[in-house]
Amino acid sequence: MADNKDLTRRDAIKTAGAATIASVAASHLQGAPAILTARAATNAVNYGMVGTGSRGTYLLKHLKGIDTGNCVAICDLTDDALNKAQQTIGGNPKRYKDYRELLADKSVEAVFVTTPLFMHFPVTRDALDAGKHVFCEKSLVFKPEEVHALRALATSKPKQVLQTGLQRRYSAMYQAARQMIEKGLLGDVTYVQAQWHRNPGWKMKKGVPNERMANWRLFREYSGGLVAELASHQIDVADRMLGMTPEAVMGMGSHDFLNDGRDILDNVQLIYKYPKGRRLVWTGIPGSSHWAGVGGARTEMGEIICGTKGTIHITIGDDNNRPIGMWFREPNPPAQVQEAGKKKEEFKAGATMVASAGSRPLPILLNKDLMTGQESFLEKEMKFARLWLYQKGILVPEEEKNPVDTELESFFRDVRTGGHPLADLEVGLQDSIAVILSNIALDEGRTVYFNEIEKMGKGGATPAKPAVKKS
Ligand SMILES: NC(=O)c1ccc[n+]([C@@H]2O[C@H](COP(=O)([O-])OP(=O)(O)OC[C@H]3O[C@@H](n4cnc5c(N)ncnc54)[C@H](O)[C@@H]3O)[C@@H](O)[C@H]2O)c1
Repeated sequence: MADNKDLTRRDAIKTAGAATIASVAASHLQGAPAILTARAATNAVNYGMVGTGSRGTYLLKHLKGIDTGNCVAICDLTDDALNKAQQTIGGNPKRYKDYRELLADKSVEAVFVTTPLFMHFPVTRDALDAGKHVFCEKSLVFKPEEVHALRALATSKPKQVLQTGLQRRYSAMYQAARQMIEKGLLGDVTYVQAQWHRNPGWKMKKGVPNERMANWRLFREYSGGLVAELASHQIDVADRMLGMTPEAVMGMGSHDFLNDGRDILDNVQLIYKYPKGRRLVWTGIPGSSHWAGVGGARTEMGEIICGTKGTIHITIGDDNNRPIGMWFREPNPPAQVQEAGKKKEEFKAGATMVASAGSRPLPILLNKDLMTGQESFLEKEMKFARLWLYQKGILVPEEEKNPVDTELESFFRDVRTGGHPLADLEVGLQDSIAVILSNIALDEGRTVYFNEIEKMGKGGATPAKPAVKKS
């Protein structure tokens, strides 16, 4: 007999029901109807890419397998980056060193902006002005004035698609988690804990041409540091899971460990206040990569989403790691204890007692595991068998696609159909606002309120850059 911490048939059906909705959303993203895909392949979107460094080349590797886009131009400052890009995508794209020449190229319909952060806004602005659709990597913009300027410009061009490179928005696993929350399986979700710890942390590349630019992430002139590069993804996850954006942020940040000439902070802890008492706590440190989520099965990064009825541990997959999503049911509140020979007693608030035993993790279910009600007897039994294997830890649910492929396919589809991206302008701007204000909170050592952005960058002074802090 299944004990109450095990997966029961009822749980399986409940989870499957929640995930069914997710699958409908995901199927919209992951696979267009065959007829649309076939048509799009003969009408592929001609795109160019500006900034073909590490991320650009990674995207090109994925773009090579997507026939609804066709690379016609690449642009970078260095021959080395252009050569690597060309080898990756193949074919014969035109090569540019000045992005304005790529934008003047009439054959380019859409532009991927994969430059360092400080160049996102100028390239995106000029691309929109040149009539192109834009996919810009996160964080969308760098400075307060760019938030206001891009909002005004992009909303004046509603026919051009603008997508932000926040790939978790396109992950079937994260979508399933969101659907579980919407179905109430986590109860009232009040808290998100997120971390991105690295060991040893970003290294300074030495002895390379244009060393400072090659290490742009490590300098405030070009980069928003750990918050822009790492926390940005996870703030967006918290916004999505809580269904709201923050009201205020405070934190502590210092530069303590990586002393190689960089001027960004390397030791950062942030607390975000959301409406109705909700919070996100984020930490980014170098020197340790352990993550306590998912039973320690994954290092570096992930999110723990806590609600009154349950908790989700979740982390994204990439080319080498599968995504992991699991949920733990909250023991029924109020928890009860039973001493030998005595009646069950309720915990009293404030009592110093070890909480009741935790529940075993259950998998977050994806498309192929869902109960649609249309299954044959055999299919239904197969699905229950799979659930049982997941629950015993013998099998794990696997996302069918890297969400990077999904976000790229979705971009081309939206360009062709006039669709609206999941990671749209406002998602990108809200995320950038959080990054900008977090860095001000860290530098100034104060609580920063999100409505302050309205007064920043509108002719007023941009916040000064304080000296590097040591703790
Ligand atoms: N979504 C993600 O998970 C993810 C992951 C990694 C990086 N990124 C983002 O991708 C962007 C690029 O990061 P990266 O790691 O590839 O950096 P990188 O330094 O490896 O590459 C940046 C490239 O841009 C080029 N460049 C700089 N200025 C340029 C200009 N004016 N015109 C043309 N090219 C120019 C550089 O020469 C370099 O080749 C960043 O915004 C980063 O945050 C996103």
